[in-house]
Amino acid sequence: MSYEETNPGAVESETETHRLEETFICRFMRLLQLARIHESGNRLTVEALNNFISTGRRLLDEEGDEITIEASHGRFFVQGRKLLIRKQSAVFVLSLLGWFERLGLYGLRFNADFDKVTNKKAYDFILEMIEAQNHNEPAEWLGKRLEEERFFWVETVAAPQSEAGASAVENPELAHRLYSYAYNSLKSVGQKILKGKPSGIRKPLRVIQDITDLAFVNNEVLMGITTIRDHDDYTFTHSVNVAILSICLGQQIGLSRRSLVRLGISALFHDLGKIDVPLEILNKPGPLDTREFQEIQHHPLNGVRRIIKLNADSELKARILLPPFEHHLRYDLSGYPETDWNRPLSLFGRIIEICDVYDALTSARSYRQTPLSQDRALGIMLAKSGRDFDPVLLKWFVNLLGVLPMGTLVKLNTGHFGLIYNGGNFKEDHLPKVLVLRQQNGRYTKGEILDLNQRDTKTGQPPYTIESTHHPTDLGIQPAVYLM
Ligand SMILES: [Fe+2]
Ligand SMILES: [Fe+2]
Repeated sequence: MSYEETNPGAVESETETHRLEETFICRFMRLLQLARIHESGNRLTVEALNNFISTGRRLLDEEGDEITIEASHGRFFVQGRKLLIRKQSAVFVLSLLGWFERLGLYGLRFNADFDKVTNKKAYDFILEMIEAQNHNEPAEWLGKRLEEERFFWVETVAAPQSEAGASAVENPELAHRLYSYAYNSLKSVGQKILKGKPSGIRKPLRVIQDITDLAFVNNEVLMGITTIRDHDDYTFTHSVNVAILSICLGQQIGLSRRSLVRLGISALFHDLGKIDVPLEILNKPGPLDTREFQEIQHHPLNGVRRIIKLNADSELKARILLPPFEHHLRYDLSGYPETDWNRPLSLFGRIIEICDVYDALTSARSYRQTPLSQDRALGIMLAKSGRDFDPVLLKWFVNLLGVLPMGTLVKLNTGHFGLIYNGGNFKEDHLPKVLVLRQQNGRYTKGEILDLNQRDTKTGQPPYTIESTHHPTDLGIQPAVYLM
C-alpha cells in the first residue's frame, strides 16, 4: 500500500470547513454594515441576521463546543488556524479586521449557546459592538457589556501574554490549543461511537493537519506538549501524544506533509478499539488474568472495525487501517493479535509502535502508579531494538528526543530540580539547557536557565551537572506548564 497517493476527499473536507469559517466572518461583517444603517426589522437586516446565525450554527456543528475568532498580526485565526484571505472575500475579512483593530479587540468566542440565539439578541450584540467605538477602552467596555447584559453565548477574548512579538505559529499557545482540540475531537468521536451515532473525522483531520504544519515549524514545542497529562481520560491523552510523536518522527525521516497527515490520523485512532474493552479491565490496578488479557488483545482488530464504520472518505479510511492493526504486532511479529501474517510491518505501523510504547512507559497507569522517566523508558526500548522495534527508526526517535528529552525532570548537583529545556546529545558533546525549578510556598516556579555546557574558567570543570533523573509526578508537576 502506498501512502503517497492523493486523497481528494480529505482535501475537500478541509476546504469546506475553511469556506464555512470564511463565510461566517463575511456574514458577521455584512451584518455590522447593515446594522449601522438599518433597523432590526429591515428586510436586508433580517436576511443578514438569518445568514449570520445559520452559518454560526453550522460551524458550531462542525467544530464542537465553541468558535473562537482571534485577530493577530493583521490576520484572523479561527479555532487557532489562520484564515486564508481569498480575493472574493478580502473586502469583508479586512473590514472586520479593521473593526477588531479599532476596538482593540483581540478575539470573540461564541459558545454552544449560540445555537439558541434569537435574531433580536444577535442584533443587540452587533449594536453593542457599534456602540463600543464611542468608549475609551472599547474592548474592555464591550467585554463588560456582554457580561452585564447576559449575552451568554458570546464573550470577548483577551490577548495571551505571550502574544507580544510572536507570530501565532511560533506561539506555544498554539501548540496548547491544538492539543486540546485534538483531545476533544477524538473524545467526541469516541462518545458518538459509544452512543451508536455515526461519527465523521473531519474535525480530527483538521487538527492533525494543523499539528503537521506546526511540526515543520516548531518540532520542539510540539514534543514538549506531549508531557501534558492533565486531561481526564488516559486513552485519549495517550492517543494525542502518540499522534504528535509519530508526526514528529515521520517529519524527521522526511515524509511528505500528506503522508504525515495520514500517519497522524492513523496514530490518533490506533487505540480506537479500546472503546470496546470494559473499563474495569482497562483500569484494573493489578495484573490481568488470561480472559482479561484476551479481551485487551482484541483492541487492534476492533479498532480496524471501528475505523471502517467511521463516516469518512473510504479511500482515506483504507489508508489508515493497517497501522492500528499492527501496533502491537512488534517488529519481529511476535506480538498480538495472533496472525499468520509474515510480511514486515508497514512503515507507519513501525513508527506508531515506537511512539505508543514510549508514551505508555512514561505515563502513569492504573497498574503502574510510578511512570518511568523518559531516559529510562528509552533505555528499556533500546534493549529491545531489533526485536520489538525497528532499530533504525528507534535511533531516529532517540535522536529526536535527545539523550535527555525536553521535559525530563532532573536533579542537579546543586540540589535543585530542573527540567531539560532543550534536548542534549552527549555523542556530539552538546549538553542540554536546564530550566531550574524554584520552590516557593510549596509550589514550583520557573527559575533561571542553566547551560550545562558551561565550564568554570579556572578549573575547566562544569559548575552544574545532572545527578539523577526523575518522573514529573515525583514533584506533582506538569513539565509543559513550565516549558511553554
Ligand atoms: Fe494499543
Ligand atoms: Fe496505544
